Amino acid sequence: MPFSPSLRIVRLLRPTLWALALSAPLAAWATSAATSSASATTPATAGPKVQDISLIAGTCANCHGPDGRSPASIPSLRGVNERHLLARMQAFKAGTATDATVMNRLMKGYDDAQIQALAAWFSKEAH
Ligand code: HEC
Repeated sequence: MPFSPSLRIVRLLRPTLWALALSAPLAAWATSAATSSASATTPATAGPKVQDISLIAGTCANCHGPDGRSPASIPSLRGVNERHLLARMQAFKAGTATDATVMNRLMKGYDDAQIQALAAWFSKEAH
């Protein structure tokens, strides 16, 4: 077989090509190692933090209307007394609200701090 110059280039570059081929998985491994060690130090509580309450409150809009102002029969939340909202949400979570259809299941997904923050958030007329 005649010696082809392109083959020679490949031979010359072989160590470089190996280095490139090896560096990609190594970089991926290093990144995943860094991420997993970072997540090991984060608190076990999953989901949005209390600081991100506007994100949680946004999920209520589907049923309670944009910004908590309901256009239909589901009650509005915006501007409602904070203690009333808190008591209702705590009763849903505890399973003691007799009129609950969906809120009992929904509120189980939130911790006390998030429920308090939601009550405070919706009780204010504006943000
Ligand atoms: C799937 C629709 C749906 C979503 C999403 C939803 N709600 Fe409700 N909510 C309801 C319904 C329906 C009621 C009436 C009680 C029931 O049937 O469970 C209610 C009642 C309430 C009440 C009681 C209001 C009152 O004056 O008695 C509060 C407080 C409340 N929801 C807060 C929230 C918050 C905060 C969120 C978001 C984290 C949320 N809801 C998300 C449907 C929903």
